[in-house]
Amino acid sequence: MSFTAPIQLPGLTLDPHWYRRSLFYEVMVRSFVDSNGDGVGDLAGLISRLDYLQWLGVDALWIPPFFTSPLKDGGYDVTDYRSILPEFGTLEEFKELVTKAHERNLRLIIDLPLNHTSDQHDWFQQSRKHPDGAYGDFYVWSDTDEKYPHVRIIFTDTEDSNWAFDSVRRQFYFHRFFSHQPDLNFDNPKVHDSILEIVRYWLDLGVDGFRLDAVPYLYESEEGNGEGEPPTHEFVRKLRTMVDRDYPGRILIAEANQWPREVAAFFGSEPEPECHMAFDFPVMPRIFYSLRSQRAGELVRVLSETTDIPAAAGWAVFLRNHDELTLEMVSEEYRQAMYGWYAYDPRMRANVGIRRRLAPLLDNSRAEMELAHALLFALPGSPFLYYGDEIGMGDNIWLPDRDSTRTPMQWTPDRNAGFSAADPGKLFLPVVQSLVFNYTQTNVESHLAQSNSLLHWMRNVIHVRKSHPVFGLGTLRAVSTSHESVLAFTREYTGSGTSLGDQPETLLCVFSFSHNPIAVRIEDPALTSLHLYDIFGGSVFPSFDEEGAVTLTLGAQNFYWLHCG
Ligand code: GLC
Ligand code: CA
Repeated sequence: MSFTAPIQLPGLTLDPHWYRRSLFYEVMVRSFVDSNGDGVGDLAGLISRLDYLQWLGVDALWIPPFFTSPLKDGGYDVTDYRSILPEFGTLEEFKELVTKAHERNLRLIIDLPLNHTSDQHDWFQQSRKHPDGAYGDFYVWSDTDEKYPHVRIIFTDTEDSNWAFDSVRRQFYFHRFFSHQPDLNFDNPKVHDSILEIVRYWLDLGVDGFRLDAVPYLYESEEGNGEGEPPTHEFVRKLRTMVDRDYPGRILIAEANQWPREVAAFFGSEPEPECHMAFDFPVMPRIFYSLRSQRAGELVRVLSETTDIPAAAGWAVFLRNHDELTLEMVSEEYRQAMYGWYAYDPRMRANVGIRRRLAPLLDNSRAEMELAHALLFALPGSPFLYYGDEIGMGDNIWLPDRDSTRTPMQWTPDRNAGFSAADPGKLFLPVVQSLVFNYTQTNVESHLAQSNSLLHWMRNVIHVRKSHPVFGLGTLRAVSTSHESVLAFTREYTGSGTSLGDQPETLLCVFSFSHNPIAVRIEDPALTSLHLYDIFGGSVFPSFDEEGAVTLTLGAQNFYWLHCG
Protein backbone atom coordinates (compact mmCIF):
# COMPACT_ATOMS: atom_id res chain seq x y z
CA MET A 1 0.00 0.00 0.00
CA SER A 2 1.37 3.40 -0.80
CA PHE A 3 -0.06 6.76 0.05
CA THR A 4 1.00 9.61 -2.11
CA ALA A 5 -0.15 12.55 -0.03
CA PRO A 6 2.57 15.20 -0.34
CA ILE A 7 4.68 15.91 2.70
CA GLN A 8 3.98 19.51 3.67
CA LEU A 9 7.15 21.29 4.56
CA PRO A 10 8.07 23.22 6.62
CA GLY A 11 5.79 21.43 9.05
CA LEU A 12 3.37 22.81 11.54
CA THR A 13 1.03 25.66 10.75
CA LEU A 14 1.35 28.51 13.20
CA ASP A 15 -2.33 29.02 13.98
CA PRO A 16 -2.52 29.20 17.82
CA HIS A 17 -6.05 27.80 17.60
CA TRP A 18 -5.04 24.86 15.41
CA TYR A 19 -6.92 22.41 17.64
CA ARG A 20 -10.24 23.99 16.69
CA ARG A 21 -9.73 23.12 13.04
CA SER A 22 -8.19 19.69 13.46
CA LEU A 23 -9.35 16.13 12.97
CA PHE A 24 -7.90 13.95 15.74
CA TYR A 25 -7.26 10.21 15.54
CA GLU A 26 -6.76 8.03 18.61
CA VAL A 27 -4.22 5.31 17.97
CA MET A 28 -3.12 2.74 20.53
CA VAL A 29 0.55 2.02 19.82
CA ARG A 30 0.16 -1.61 20.87
CA SER A 31 -2.68 -2.19 18.41
CA PHE A 32 -1.59 -0.39 15.25
CA VAL A 33 1.48 -1.91 13.55
CA ASP A 34 4.14 -4.33 14.80
CA SER A 35 7.42 -3.46 13.06
CA ASN A 36 9.67 -6.19 14.50
CA GLY A 37 7.47 -9.28 14.52
CA ASP A 38 7.22 -9.77 18.29
CA GLY A 39 3.42 -9.65 18.15
CA VAL A 40 3.08 -6.21 19.76
CA GLY A 41 2.51 -2.91 17.97
CA ASP A 42 5.26 -0.33 18.42
CA LEU A 43 6.37 3.24 17.74
CA ALA A 44 8.36 2.27 14.63
CA GLY A 45 5.20 0.64 13.28
CA LEU A 46 3.19 3.79 13.91
CA ILE A 47 5.86 5.89 12.16
CA SER A 48 5.58 3.61 9.11
CA ARG A 49 1.86 4.43 8.77
CA LEU A 50 1.95 8.20 9.17
CA ASP A 51 1.47 8.49 5.40
CA TYR A 52 -1.79 6.59 5.72
CA LEU A 53 -3.02 8.94 8.46
CA GLN A 54 -2.02 11.97 6.45
CA TRP A 55 -3.79 10.58 3.39
CA LEU A 56 -6.95 10.09 5.45
CA GLY A 57 -6.86 13.75 6.47
CA VAL A 58 -5.84 13.40 10.12
CA ASP A 59 -4.35 16.56 11.67
CA ALA A 60 -3.45 15.31 15.13
CA LEU A 61 -2.82 11.99 16.84
CA TRP A 62 -3.75 11.11 20.38
CA ILE A 63 -1.73 8.22 21.72
CA PRO A 64 -2.77 6.62 25.00
CA PRO A 65 0.04 5.95 27.51
CA PHE A 66 3.17 4.25 26.17
CA PHE A 67 5.19 4.61 29.38
CA THR A 68 6.71 1.79 31.37
CA SER A 69 3.81 -0.10 32.91
CA PRO A 70 2.70 -3.58 33.98
CA LEU A 71 -0.20 -3.06 31.54
CA LYS A 72 -2.88 -4.09 33.97
CA ASP A 73 -4.97 -1.18 32.70
CA GLY A 74 -3.80 -0.73 29.12
CA GLY A 75 -0.87 1.45 30.23
CA TYR A 76 -2.96 3.79 32.41
CA ASP A 77 -1.05 2.19 35.28
CA VAL A 78 2.32 3.93 34.96
CA THR A 79 5.52 2.91 36.74
CA ASP A 80 7.82 5.51 35.18
CA TYR A 81 6.53 8.60 33.39
CA ARG A 82 9.84 9.31 31.72
CA SER A 83 10.59 5.98 30.11
CA ILE A 84 8.96 4.11 27.26
CA LEU A 85 7.71 0.55 27.61
CA PRO A 86 10.56 -1.41 25.98
CA GLU A 87 8.28 -3.44 23.71
CA PHE A 88 6.93 -0.18 22.28
CA GLY A 89 10.38 1.18 21.40
CA THR A 90 12.94 3.71 22.50
CA LEU A 91 13.11 7.39 23.28
CA GLU A 92 14.99 7.88 19.99
CA GLU A 93 12.06 6.34 18.16
CA PHE A 94 9.67 8.60 20.03
CA LYS A 95 11.70 11.64 18.94
CA GLU A 96 11.59 10.35 15.39
CA LEU A 97 7.81 10.02 15.67
CA VAL A 98 7.56 13.67 16.75
CA THR A 99 9.77 14.82 13.87
CA LYS A 100 8.12 12.71 11.20
CA ALA A 101 4.64 13.67 12.41
CA HIS A 102 5.50 17.36 12.44
CA GLU A 103 6.99 17.16 8.93
CA ARG A 104 3.54 16.08 7.82
CA ASN A 105 1.80 18.85 9.75
CA LEU A 106 0.46 16.21 12.13
CA ARG A 107 0.37 17.12 15.80
CA LEU A 108 0.94 14.69 18.62
CA ILE A 109 -1.11 14.59 21.83
CA ILE A 110 -0.03 12.19 24.54
CA ASP A 111 -1.95 10.93 27.53
CA LEU A 112 -1.15 12.00 31.06
CA PRO A 113 -2.63 9.73 33.74
CA LEU A 114 -2.03 12.17 36.57
CA ASN A 115 -4.66 11.08 39.08
CA HIS A 116 -2.97 7.81 39.95
CA THR A 117 0.05 5.61 39.30
CA SER A 118 0.59 1.87 39.24
CA ASP A 119 1.12 0.33 42.68
CA GLN A 120 4.45 -0.80 41.26
CA HIS A 121 5.63 2.78 40.79
CA ASP A 122 8.67 3.49 42.93
CA TRP A 123 6.81 6.42 44.57
CA PHE A 124 4.18 4.00 45.90
CA GLN A 125 6.71 1.41 46.98
CA GLN A 126 8.61 4.09 48.93
CA SER A 127 5.39 5.47 50.32
CA ARG A 128 4.18 2.17 51.74
CA LYS A 129 7.58 1.30 53.23
CA HIS A 130 8.59 4.70 54.58
CA PRO A 131 5.63 6.71 55.87
CA ASP A 132 8.03 9.39 57.10
CA GLY A 133 10.22 9.34 54.00
CA ALA A 134 10.26 11.66 50.99
CA TYR A 135 7.29 9.88 49.38
CA GLY A 136 5.34 9.16 52.56
CA ASP A 137 2.64 11.71 51.62
CA PHE A 138 2.53 11.04 47.89
CA TYR A 139 -0.66 8.98 48.15
CA VAL A 140 -3.95 9.27 50.02
CA TRP A 141 -3.52 7.17 53.19
CA SER A 142 -5.99 6.68 56.00
CA ASP A 143 -6.45 4.52 59.09
CA THR A 144 -10.02 3.77 58.06
CA ASP A 145 -11.80 2.98 54.82
CA GLU A 146 -14.65 5.30 55.73
CA LYS A 147 -13.45 8.66 54.48
CA TYR A 148 -15.01 10.41 51.47
CA PRO A 149 -18.39 8.66 51.71
CA HIS A 150 -19.92 10.54 48.75
CA VAL A 151 -17.38 9.35 46.20
CA ARG A 152 -18.88 6.88 43.72
CA ILE A 153 -17.17 3.73 42.44
CA ILE A 154 -16.27 3.88 38.76
CA PHE A 155 -15.10 0.35 37.97
CA THR A 156 -18.22 -1.30 39.33
CA ASP A 157 -17.37 -4.64 37.68
CA THR A 158 -14.23 -5.17 39.74
CA GLU A 159 -14.19 -2.83 42.76
CA ASP A 160 -16.47 -2.68 45.76
CA SER A 161 -14.67 0.12 47.58
CA ASN A 162 -12.42 3.07 46.75
CA TRP A 163 -10.11 2.03 49.59
CA ALA A 164 -7.68 -0.86 49.75
CA PHE A 165 -5.66 -2.09 52.71
CA ASP A 166 -1.89 -2.12 52.36
CA SER A 167 -0.34 -4.86 54.45
CA VAL A 168 3.08 -3.19 54.56
CA ARG A 169 2.10 0.27 55.79
CA ARG A 170 -0.93 -1.19 57.61
CA GLN A 171 -3.17 1.62 56.38
CA PHE A 172 -5.77 2.04 53.67
CA TYR A 173 -5.03 3.89 50.44
CA PHE A 174 -7.56 5.58 48.21
CA HIS A 175 -8.09 4.53 44.57
CA ARG A 176 -10.67 5.93 42.12
CA PHE A 177 -10.07 3.12 39.64
CA PHE A 178 -8.53 -0.34 40.04
CA SER A 179 -7.10 -1.16 43.47
CA HIS A 180 -3.67 -1.48 41.81
CA GLN A 181 -3.92 2.22 40.89
CA PRO A 182 -3.42 4.29 44.09
CA ASP A 183 -4.48 7.94 43.78
CA LEU A 184 -1.77 10.57 44.09
CA ASN A 185 -2.20 13.02 46.95
CA PHE A 186 -2.63 16.43 45.33
CA ASP A 187 -2.69 18.09 48.75
CA ASN A 188 1.06 17.52 48.71
CA PRO A 189 2.85 20.34 46.83
CA LYS A 190 5.60 17.88 45.90
CA VAL A 191 3.08 15.92 43.87
CA HIS A 192 2.29 19.12 41.94
CA ASP A 193 5.99 19.69 41.30
CA SER A 194 6.50 16.11 40.11
CA ILE A 195 3.58 16.29 37.67
CA LEU A 196 4.67 19.68 36.32
CA GLU A 197 8.17 18.32 35.74
CA ILE A 198 6.80 15.36 33.80
CA VAL A 199 4.71 17.74 31.70
CA ARG A 200 7.78 19.86 30.93
CA TYR A 201 9.82 16.77 30.06
CA TRP A 202 7.43 15.71 27.29
CA LEU A 203 6.77 19.24 26.07
CA ASP A 204 10.54 19.69 25.74
CA LEU A 205 10.53 16.58 23.54
CA GLY A 206 8.08 18.35 21.26
CA VAL A 207 4.64 16.93 22.01
CA ASP A 208 1.77 19.27 21.18
CA GLY A 209 -0.31 18.61 24.24
CA PHE A 210 -1.85 16.25 26.74
CA ARG A 211 -5.08 14.49 27.35
CA LEU A 212 -5.53 14.95 31.08
CA ASP A 213 -6.73 11.50 32.04
CA ALA A 214 -9.43 11.29 34.71
CA VAL A 215 -8.89 14.96 35.55
CA PRO A 216 -12.01 15.54 37.72
CA TYR A 217 -10.73 13.19 40.40
CA LEU A 218 -7.52 14.89 41.59
CA TYR A 219 -8.94 16.06 44.93
CA GLU A 220 -11.53 14.54 47.19
CA SER A 221 -13.23 15.93 50.29
CA GLU A 222 -15.51 14.82 53.13
CA GLU A 223 -18.49 16.85 51.83
CA GLY A 224 -18.00 16.59 48.07
CA ASN A 225 -18.24 13.77 45.56
CA GLY A 226 -14.59 14.11 44.50
CA GLU A 227 -15.46 15.25 40.97
CA GLY A 228 -14.22 18.65 39.89
CA GLU A 229 -13.74 19.99 43.43
CA PRO A 230 -12.43 23.60 43.62
CA PRO A 231 -8.74 22.70 44.27
CA THR A 232 -8.80 20.38 41.23
CA HIS A 233 -9.70 23.36 39.05
CA GLU A 234 -7.05 25.41 40.80
CA PHE A 235 -4.41 22.84 39.88
CA VAL A 236 -5.54 22.77 36.24
CA ARG A 237 -5.29 26.57 36.12
CA LYS A 238 -1.76 26.35 37.47
CA LEU A 239 -0.84 23.81 34.81
CA ARG A 240 -2.40 25.97 32.08
CA THR A 241 -0.52 29.04 33.27
CA MET A 242 2.77 27.19 32.95
CA VAL A 243 1.92 25.82 29.50
CA ASP A 244 0.81 29.23 28.18
CA ARG A 245 3.87 30.92 29.59
CA ASP A 246 6.55 28.46 28.52
CA TYR A 247 4.97 26.44 25.70
CA PRO A 248 2.40 28.59 23.88
CA GLY A 249 0.46 26.71 21.22
CA ARG A 250 0.47 23.41 23.15
CA ILE A 251 -2.84 22.21 24.49
CA LEU A 252 -4.62 20.49 27.38
CA ILE A 253 -7.65 18.25 26.80
CA ALA A 254 -9.91 17.32 29.72
CA GLU A 255 -11.21 13.81 30.07
CA ALA A 256 -14.12 14.67 32.37
CA ASN A 257 -16.96 12.21 32.20
CA GLN A 258 -19.55 14.52 33.75
CA TRP A 259 -22.76 16.46 33.11
CA PRO A 260 -22.54 19.37 30.62
CA ARG A 261 -22.05 22.23 33.06
CA GLU A 262 -19.41 20.33 35.02
CA VAL A 263 -17.47 19.38 31.91
CA ALA A 264 -17.64 22.97 30.67
CA ALA A 265 -16.12 24.08 33.98
CA PHE A 266 -12.87 22.48 32.78
CA PHE A 267 -12.58 25.18 30.11
CA GLY A 268 -12.29 27.71 32.94
CA SER A 269 -13.08 31.30 32.05
CA GLU A 270 -11.10 34.34 30.96
CA PRO A 271 -8.75 35.55 32.33
CA GLU A 272 -8.16 32.18 34.01
CA PRO A 273 -8.60 29.48 31.37
CA GLU A 274 -8.16 25.80 32.20
CA CYS A 275 -8.24 23.28 29.32
CA HIS A 276 -8.28 24.17 25.64
CA MET A 277 -10.55 21.24 24.91
CA ALA A 278 -12.82 18.82 26.75
CA PHE A 279 -14.36 15.60 25.55
CA ASP A 280 -18.06 15.97 24.92
CA PHE A 281 -19.31 13.13 27.11
CA PRO A 282 -22.87 14.51 27.31
CA VAL A 283 -23.45 14.52 23.55
CA MET A 284 -21.91 11.15 22.70
CA PRO A 285 -24.46 8.69 24.19
CA ARG A 286 -27.33 10.83 22.89
CA ILE A 287 -26.16 10.27 19.32
CA PHE A 288 -26.56 6.53 19.87
CA TYR A 289 -29.88 7.09 21.61
CA SER A 290 -31.23 9.09 18.65
CA LEU A 291 -30.19 6.46 16.13
CA ARG A 292 -32.38 3.81 17.75
CA SER A 293 -35.21 5.87 19.27
CA GLN A 294 -35.60 7.74 15.95
CA ARG A 295 -36.06 10.89 17.98
CA ALA A 296 -33.88 13.98 17.90
CA GLY A 297 -35.23 15.71 21.03
CA GLU A 298 -32.50 14.73 23.49
CA LEU A 299 -29.78 15.89 21.13
CA VAL A 300 -31.49 19.21 20.52
CA ARG A 301 -31.70 19.72 24.26
CA VAL A 302 -28.10 18.86 25.06
CA LEU A 303 -26.71 20.78 22.08
CA SER A 304 -28.54 23.89 23.15
CA GLU A 305 -27.07 23.48 26.63
CA THR A 306 -23.40 22.98 25.76
CA THR A 307 -22.81 25.79 23.30
CA ASP A 308 -21.83 28.48 25.78
CA ILE A 309 -18.06 28.12 26.26
CA PRO A 310 -15.09 30.54 26.11
CA ALA A 311 -14.24 31.75 22.61
CA ALA A 312 -10.89 29.96 22.32
CA ALA A 313 -12.14 26.68 23.79
CA GLY A 314 -13.31 23.70 21.75
CA TRP A 315 -15.25 20.51 22.30
CA ALA A 316 -13.60 17.19 21.50
CA VAL A 317 -16.48 15.23 19.98
CA PHE A 318 -16.32 11.49 19.52
CA LEU A 319 -18.35 8.36 18.92
CA ARG A 320 -16.04 5.72 20.35
CA ASN A 321 -12.67 5.47 22.07
CA HIS A 322 -10.56 2.82 23.83
CA ASP A 323 -12.97 2.67 26.79
CA GLU A 324 -16.50 1.35 27.12
CA LEU A 325 -19.25 3.51 25.64
CA THR A 326 -20.12 5.08 28.95
CA LEU A 327 -23.74 5.46 29.98
CA GLU A 328 -23.00 7.27 33.22
CA MET A 329 -24.32 10.57 31.90
CA VAL A 330 -27.81 9.46 30.88
CA SER A 331 -30.91 8.87 33.00
CA GLU A 332 -31.73 5.37 34.23
CA GLU A 333 -34.61 5.06 31.76
CA TYR A 334 -32.41 5.92 28.79
CA ARG A 335 -29.62 3.70 30.07
CA GLN A 336 -31.92 0.70 30.14
CA ALA A 337 -33.14 1.48 26.64
CA MET A 338 -29.54 1.73 25.40
CA TYR A 339 -28.60 -1.59 27.04
CA GLY A 340 -31.59 -3.16 25.34
CA TRP A 341 -30.64 -1.88 21.89
CA TYR A 342 -26.88 -2.07 22.05
CA ALA A 343 -25.90 -4.60 24.74
CA TYR A 344 -28.56 -7.30 24.64
CA ASP A 345 -25.85 -9.84 25.56
CA PRO A 346 -24.51 -9.19 29.10
CA ARG A 347 -21.07 -9.93 27.70
CA MET A 348 -21.29 -6.65 25.80
CA ARG A 349 -21.41 -4.61 29.01
CA ALA A 350 -18.57 -3.25 31.11
CA ASN A 351 -19.00 -1.18 34.24
CA VAL A 352 -21.72 1.40 33.45
CA GLY A 353 -21.32 1.09 29.71
CA ILE A 354 -20.94 -0.98 26.57
CA ARG A 355 -17.65 -2.50 25.42
CA ARG A 356 -18.28 -2.64 21.68
CA ARG A 357 -16.92 -0.93 18.62
CA LEU A 358 -18.85 1.42 16.39
CA ALA A 359 -19.58 -0.89 13.43
CA PRO A 360 -20.96 -3.78 15.52
CA LEU A 361 -22.98 -1.31 17.63
CA LEU A 362 -24.57 -0.05 14.43
CA ASP A 363 -25.17 -3.55 13.10
CA ASN A 364 -22.65 -2.92 10.36
CA SER A 365 -25.17 -0.60 8.73
CA ARG A 366 -23.46 1.65 6.25
CA ALA A 367 -26.30 4.18 6.43
CA GLU A 368 -25.96 4.45 10.20
CA MET A 369 -22.18 4.72 10.12
CA GLU A 370 -22.43 7.52 7.57
CA LEU A 371 -25.18 9.30 9.51
CA ALA A 372 -23.27 9.03 12.79
CA HIS A 373 -20.06 10.40 11.23
CA ALA A 374 -21.85 13.15 9.30
CA LEU A 375 -23.34 14.29 12.59
CA LEU A 376 -20.03 13.97 14.44
CA PHE A 377 -18.24 16.03 11.80
CA ALA A 378 -20.94 18.74 11.86
CA LEU A 379 -21.04 19.21 15.63
CA PRO A 380 -19.29 22.20 17.18
CA GLY A 381 -15.77 21.21 18.09
CA SER A 382 -13.16 18.87 16.69
CA PRO A 383 -13.91 15.24 15.87
CA PHE A 384 -11.87 12.42 17.38
CA LEU A 385 -11.84 9.13 15.46
CA TYR A 386 -10.87 5.80 17.01
CA TYR A 387 -8.44 3.72 14.99
CA GLY A 388 -10.16 1.14 12.80
CA ASP A 389 -13.57 2.82 12.81
CA GLU A 390 -12.75 4.33 9.42
CA ILE A 391 -12.92 0.81 7.96
CA GLY A 392 -15.81 -0.32 10.17
CA MET A 393 -13.68 -2.73 12.20
CA GLY A 394 -15.40 -5.27 14.44
CA ASP A 395 -14.70 -6.25 18.04
CA ASN A 396 -14.30 -9.41 20.10
CA ILE A 397 -16.58 -9.59 23.11
CA TRP A 398 -14.99 -12.86 24.25
CA LEU A 399 -11.84 -10.95 25.23
CA PRO A 400 -11.83 -9.53 28.78
CA ASP A 401 -12.73 -5.97 29.79
CA ARG A 402 -12.02 -3.30 27.16
CA ASP A 403 -9.62 -5.49 25.18
CA SER A 404 -12.75 -6.31 23.18
CA THR A 405 -12.19 -3.08 21.24
CA ARG A 406 -8.38 -2.91 21.25
CA THR A 407 -7.57 -5.71 18.80
CA PRO A 408 -4.93 -5.30 16.06
CA MET A 409 -5.62 -2.85 13.24
CA GLN A 410 -6.63 -4.69 10.10
CA TRP A 411 -4.43 -3.62 7.19
CA THR A 412 -4.59 -6.48 4.67
CA PRO A 413 -6.28 -9.88 4.14
CA ASP A 414 -2.91 -11.57 4.86
CA ARG A 415 -1.60 -13.27 8.00
CA ASN A 416 -2.43 -11.34 11.18
CA ALA A 417 -4.30 -8.82 9.01
CA GLY A 418 -0.95 -7.35 8.00
CA PHE A 419 -0.52 -6.06 11.56
CA SER A 420 2.43 -8.31 12.39
CA ALA A 421 4.65 -10.99 10.90
CA ALA A 422 4.62 -12.93 14.19
CA ASP A 423 3.32 -16.44 14.69
CA PRO A 424 -0.46 -15.78 15.04
CA GLY A 425 -0.48 -17.40 18.50
CA LYS A 426 2.00 -14.82 19.71
CA LEU A 427 -0.09 -11.69 19.03
CA PHE A 428 -0.85 -9.57 22.12
CA LEU A 429 -4.52 -9.96 21.15
CA PRO A 430 -6.01 -12.01 18.32
CA VAL A 431 -7.23 -10.30 15.15
CA VAL A 432 -10.98 -10.21 14.60
CA GLN A 433 -12.14 -13.31 12.76
CA SER A 434 -15.89 -13.07 13.28
CA LEU A 435 -18.25 -13.96 10.47
CA VAL A 436 -19.26 -10.39 9.72
CA PHE A 437 -16.06 -8.51 10.48
CA ASN A 438 -13.43 -11.03 9.44
CA TYR A 439 -10.13 -9.31 8.68
CA THR A 440 -10.02 -10.98 5.28
CA GLN A 441 -12.80 -8.58 4.22
CA THR A 442 -12.56 -5.73 6.68
CA ASN A 443 -9.12 -4.27 6.09
CA VAL A 444 -7.52 -1.12 4.70
CA GLU A 445 -6.28 -2.72 1.51
CA SER A 446 -9.70 -4.06 0.54
CA HIS A 447 -11.30 -0.72 1.34
CA LEU A 448 -8.75 1.06 -0.84
CA ALA A 449 -9.50 -1.28 -3.72
CA GLN A 450 -13.21 -0.42 -3.65
CA SER A 451 -14.03 3.14 -4.61
CA ASN A 452 -17.32 3.26 -2.69
CA SER A 453 -15.93 1.77 0.53
CA LEU A 454 -16.51 3.34 3.94
CA LEU A 455 -12.83 4.35 4.04
CA HIS A 456 -13.11 6.34 0.80
CA TRP A 457 -16.38 7.85 1.99
CA MET A 458 -14.74 8.93 5.26
CA ARG A 459 -11.76 10.46 3.52
CA ASN A 460 -14.00 12.37 1.14
CA VAL A 461 -16.20 13.75 3.91
CA ILE A 462 -13.16 14.66 6.00
CA HIS A 463 -11.75 16.65 3.11
CA VAL A 464 -15.06 18.38 2.39
CA ARG A 465 -15.27 19.30 6.07
CA LYS A 466 -11.73 20.71 5.98
CA SER A 467 -12.58 23.12 3.20
CA HIS A 468 -15.33 24.72 5.35
CA PRO A 469 -13.78 26.32 8.45
CA VAL A 470 -17.30 26.97 9.73
CA PHE A 471 -17.39 23.38 11.03
CA GLY A 472 -14.54 23.95 13.44
CA LEU A 473 -15.03 27.61 14.21
CA GLY A 474 -18.69 28.47 13.74
CA THR A 475 -21.52 28.75 16.24
CA LEU A 476 -24.40 26.28 16.38
CA ARG A 477 -28.08 27.14 16.59
CA ALA A 478 -30.79 24.50 16.65
CA VAL A 479 -33.59 25.18 14.16
CA SER A 480 -37.15 23.98 14.64
CA THR A 481 -38.54 21.20 12.48
CA SER A 482 -41.93 19.56 11.99
CA HIS A 483 -40.62 16.01 12.43
CA GLU A 484 -39.53 14.42 15.73
CA SER A 485 -36.88 12.32 13.92
CA VAL A 486 -35.13 15.30 12.42
CA LEU A 487 -32.28 17.29 13.92
CA ALA A 488 -31.56 20.56 12.13
CA PHE A 489 -29.10 23.26 13.08
CA THR A 490 -27.20 26.06 11.48
CA ARG A 491 -23.47 26.52 11.78
CA GLU A 492 -22.42 30.11 11.29
CA TYR A 493 -18.99 31.63 10.99
CA THR A 494 -18.37 35.29 10.33
CA GLY A 495 -14.70 34.84 9.38
CA SER A 496 -11.63 36.03 11.23
CA GLY A 497 -10.47 38.20 8.37
CA THR A 498 -6.91 37.13 9.11
CA SER A 499 -6.04 34.21 6.90
CA LEU A 500 -6.84 33.08 3.39
CA GLY A 501 -9.54 30.46 3.10
CA ASP A 502 -11.08 31.64 6.37
CA GLN A 503 -14.29 32.56 4.61
CA PRO A 504 -17.53 33.44 6.41
CA GLU A 505 -20.26 30.90 5.81
CA THR A 506 -23.64 29.71 7.06
CA LEU A 507 -24.56 26.05 6.73
CA LEU A 508 -27.81 24.27 7.42
CA CYS A 509 -27.19 20.70 8.62
CA VAL A 510 -30.14 18.33 8.63
CA PHE A 511 -30.14 14.74 9.93
CA SER A 512 -33.00 12.27 9.82
CA PHE A 513 -32.94 9.44 12.36
CA SER A 514 -36.09 7.96 10.90
CA HIS A 515 -35.80 4.42 9.58
CA ASN A 516 -38.15 5.44 6.72
CA PRO A 517 -38.12 8.24 4.16
CA ILE A 518 -39.71 11.47 5.41
CA ALA A 519 -40.66 15.02 4.45
CA VAL A 520 -39.93 17.76 6.97
CA ARG A 521 -40.76 21.44 7.22
CA ILE A 522 -37.93 23.52 8.63
CA GLU A 523 -38.74 26.97 9.88
CA ASP A 524 -36.51 29.77 10.98
CA PRO A 525 -37.19 33.49 10.52
CA ALA A 526 -33.45 34.20 10.34
CA LEU A 527 -33.21 32.11 7.16
CA THR A 528 -36.04 33.84 5.27
CA SER A 529 -35.59 33.75 1.47
CA LEU A 530 -32.15 32.13 1.65
CA HIS A 531 -31.03 29.80 -1.13
CA LEU A 532 -29.67 26.37 -0.33
CA TYR A 533 -27.21 24.16 -2.12
CA ASP A 534 -25.53 20.89 -1.23
CA ILE A 535 -21.83 21.26 -0.41
CA PHE A 536 -20.88 17.81 -1.76
CA GLY A 537 -22.24 17.98 -5.29
CA GLY A 538 -23.38 21.59 -5.55
CA SER A 539 -27.06 20.72 -6.32
CA VAL A 540 -29.54 23.53 -5.89
CA PHE A 541 -32.22 22.83 -3.26
CA PRO A 542 -35.59 24.54 -2.67
CA SER A 543 -35.13 28.00 -1.07
CA PHE A 544 -36.56 29.23 2.23
CA ASP A 545 -39.78 31.11 1.50
CA GLU A 546 -40.79 34.57 2.72
CA GLU A 547 -42.01 33.11 6.00
CA GLY A 548 -38.64 31.47 6.58
CA ALA A 549 -39.81 27.92 5.87
CA VAL A 550 -38.69 25.19 3.52
CA THR A 551 -39.81 21.58 3.03
CA LEU A 552 -37.15 18.95 2.44
CA THR A 553 -37.41 15.22 1.85
CA LEU A 554 -34.83 12.80 3.24
CA GLY A 555 -34.26 9.11 2.65
CA ALA A 556 -34.10 6.74 5.64
CA GLN A 557 -31.23 7.71 8.01
CA ASN A 558 -29.99 10.40 5.69
CA PHE A 559 -28.48 13.85 6.07
CA TYR A 560 -27.72 17.10 4.25
CA TRP A 561 -25.01 19.67 4.68
CA LEU A 562 -26.41 22.72 2.85
CA HIS A 563 -24.78 26.06 2.15
CA CYS A 564 -27.12 29.01 2.83
CA GLY A 565 -26.65 32.06 0.66
C1 GLC B 1 -9.25 6.76 32.00
C2 GLC B 1 -8.86 5.91 30.80
C3 GLC B 1 -9.16 4.47 31.06
C4 GLC B 1 -8.48 4.03 32.34
C5 GLC B 1 -8.85 4.95 33.50
C6 GLC B 1 -8.06 4.64 34.71
O1 GLC B 1 -10.62 6.79 32.17
O2 GLC B 1 -9.48 6.38 29.64
O3 GLC B 1 -8.79 3.66 29.99
O4 GLC B 1 -8.83 2.71 32.63
O5 GLC B 1 -8.60 6.29 33.15
O6 GLC B 1 -6.71 4.90 34.51
CA1 CA C 1 6.76 -5.01 18.00
